Amino acid sequence: MTRQKKIFLEESEMPKQWYNLAPDLPTPMNPPLGPGGVIVTPEMLAPVFPMNLIEQEVSQERWIDIPEPIREMLVQWRPSPLIRAYELEEALGTPAKIYYKNEGVSPAGSHKPNTAVAQAWYNKEFGIKKLTTETGAGQWGSALSYACAQVGGIECKVYMVRVSFDQKPFRKMMMETWGGQCVASPSTETQAGRDILAQFPDTPGSLGIAISEAVEAAVSDPTGETRYSLGSVLNHVMLHQTVIGQEAKKQLKKVGIDKPDIVIGCCGGGSNFAGISFPFMYDKINGADIQIIGVEPTSCPTLTKAPFVYDHGDVAKMTPLLAMNSLGHNFVPAPIHAGGLRYHGMAPLVSAALRDGLMEATSVHQSECFEAGLLFAKTEGIIPAPETTHAIAQTIREAKKAKEEGKEKVILFNFSGHGLMDLVGYNKYINGELKDYAYPESEIAENLRKIEGYPMPK
Ligand SMILES: Cc1ncc(COP(=O)(O)O)c(C=O)c1O
Repeated sequence: MTRQKKIFLEESEMPKQWYNLAPDLPTPMNPPLGPGGVIVTPEMLAPVFPMNLIEQEVSQERWIDIPEPIREMLVQWRPSPLIRAYELEEALGTPAKIYYKNEGVSPAGSHKPNTAVAQAWYNKEFGIKKLTTETGAGQWGSALSYACAQVGGIECKVYMVRVSFDQKPFRKMMMETWGGQCVASPSTETQAGRDILAQFPDTPGSLGIAISEAVEAAVSDPTGETRYSLGSVLNHVMLHQTVIGQEAKKQLKKVGIDKPDIVIGCCGGGSNFAGISFPFMYDKINGADIQIIGVEPTSCPTLTKAPFVYDHGDVAKMTPLLAMNSLGHNFVPAPIHAGGLRYHGMAPLVSAALRDGLMEATSVHQSECFEAGLLFAKTEGIIPAPETTHAIAQTIREAKKAKEEGKEKVILFNFSGHGLMDLVGYNKYINGELKDYAYPESEIAENLRKIEGYPMPK
């Protein structure tokens, strides 16, 4: 047997620093804005996040050291394997070489623990006793519950988007097994939740609503020992995920590949995409020819159809205004099965990378994604999360294109998580019960009318 399926790194080869894209962007980032358009200062964010993470949020350092206790937690599952998708390549009859970084090997089943352990550790260092958060698919809530258990001495409270809460009861059980608490959002526990329920009693919920609840719960704790934690979108979350792409680079080098031709990741808030792609954007900024593609659902077309604007990260407008691609903070997505991709905004760093031409974006319907997920499961064996199937669907498109062109391209994609808790979605697809939704342009325009008059980013 001469071919090598999996490429591993030693634990000692795990990155010792995170890569920050912000200082390398061709156009400087637009700062977050508070009420009246004033630039948000670190002190203004202090009721929501601990100062050590705020420092990372605003950092212009290119490389930031990973503290040793965080590296010790990361090695529970890192470095994650890079896998050559030989069986998928054969099924497609493509000359392309397909590699995927398997982030599904983490305890919670996705890339999310990469930032969860870091955030829990920094909060504990700062003296925080409780973290509140939202979760879409349940991956992030599980990851943070796991991380709080690892760090010890921090409670974790999760507001889970109603539709996912109903579709994925085992995610709540995972959170509780690690000692976290999980409620469906909107809940009656917060003013933001009660207001939404009064207006829309049957709402399926949204990430924007769940974020409002989690932020409110954090800032209204009279002890001052609770902070809010976000699983995507923010600069420090993108930063913590860059271990993925850094490892992938070393692993490709081990099999003699200097650079991939194409890098692909699915995009919800942008974090797993940032994780795999930012270290390659660094190379691209320095002259390498690499095509970098973010993939999103056609039902939530943040990168492909939404404008680059200043908008809130949540429905109740509790967050500052962030410069990002946004479908409008009032956006309530269709209940597609990729729960983690149903967010109205996009990470400011990813939005800026799109604006600066460092990446391109595309969208896929959920039926094409599930079809890709089934092919992947039957060939490579692992059942992907519905979010991850977006990256796989685009990889298949590119592999077919390589076949038509007769080109032996190297395609790298991020396998952001496994789908073992998402089988209800697969079952519906197999039974022909899933519908495709394209988000109507008219509704985007309607949502965006609510942010008319907000400042415009550069
Ligand atoms: C497996 C998986 N992939 C992707 C995502 C999308 O999030 P992000 O864009 O922050 O990576 C999620 C979010 O819940 C997820 O669970």
